[in-house]
Amino acid sequence: MPTVLPEQPERSLPPDPEPHRFRQVAESFGTDAERYDRTRPRYPDALIERIVAASPGRDLVDVGCGTGTAARQFRAAGCTVLGVEPDARMAGFARRSGLEVEVSTFEAWDSAGRQFDAVVAGTAWHWVDLVAGATKAAQVLRPGGLLAPFHHVFQSPPEVTGALANAYRQVAPDSPFNRSSQPSGSALDLYEPLFAKIADGIRKVGGFSEPERWQFDWERTYSRDEWLDQLPTLGSLTGLPSDKVAQVQAEVGAAIDAIGGSFVMAYTTVAVTAARTGHGPTGS
Ligand SMILES: C[S@@+](CC[C@H](N)C(=O)[O-])C[C@H]1O[C@@H](n2cnc3c(N)ncnc32)[C@H](O)[C@@H]1O
Repeated sequence: MPTVLPEQPERSLPPDPEPHRFRQVAESFGTDAERYDRTRPRYPDALIERIVAASPGRDLVDVGCGTGTAARQFRAAGCTVLGVEPDARMAGFARRSGLEVEVSTFEAWDSAGRQFDAVVAGTAWHWVDLVAGATKAAQVLRPGGLLAPFHHVFQSPPEVTGALANAYRQVAPDSPFNRSSQPSGSALDLYEPLFAKIADGIRKVGGFSEPERWQFDWERTYSRDEWLDQLPTLGSLTGLPSDKVAQVQAEVGAAIDAIGGSFVMAYTTVAVTAARTGHGPTGS
């Protein structure tokens, strides 16, 4: 029987035009902040360097900084980074590595009149209201400042994706991450509507240059144990009881064993960027 690949559990993106409305998932990543920080991948150095080069200065806000994965990379590149993060558990982890973090959603955050050279967001902008988020970014960016939300998109082999989708349907049949009518396509195809909406949100707010898209392709080899360690950090799994997570891990682990015990994950990191022009509804 051919395997239907809804793929949503792996995408960690609820099948809704507005994922940020799924607040329980949006603020669930601190369930195991230590695992999150240990297993989630860093961002390509070329992306970090390009954002720093395109920003007029080095004062950054990292929206949804989580445990500080991207923030630490920007700090190492010479930036001063302020994290804005609604999950106090994630913020606490980031602070322990010396980062300054204010606990709030970005939309509700009180910037207290401070201005920044860049607003970045690592795999977090889909949890923000795209218009309210771009409006807040326009308010806090200096003229020429860069808005740069970016996302990791990843694609495991079909055997691994299929095992996850099938196991997930069994343990969480009513989850919004299940959508069996979802046509199987590449991971990037499934993210395209989000990238288009991010750009639309920026255009709608005004006061920014025409959004650009920057794309970085890379790969990472995962052993069975490495992927099973990272799996529980997916937004589709953070809310499940541990026995159900273990069931999903067992099925995905068996699928990885069947293809030799390891696999290559194809990653694409996509940024949608726009510079603050200083003109427009929120800048004049
Ligand atoms: C998938 S994690 C990414 C964390 C980190 N940026 C990284 O690259 O590893 C998404 C983060 O966005 C945060 N978040 C959710 N809703 C948010 C909002 N409205 N404003 C700011 N951050 C939000 C979550 O708490 C979580 O830490």
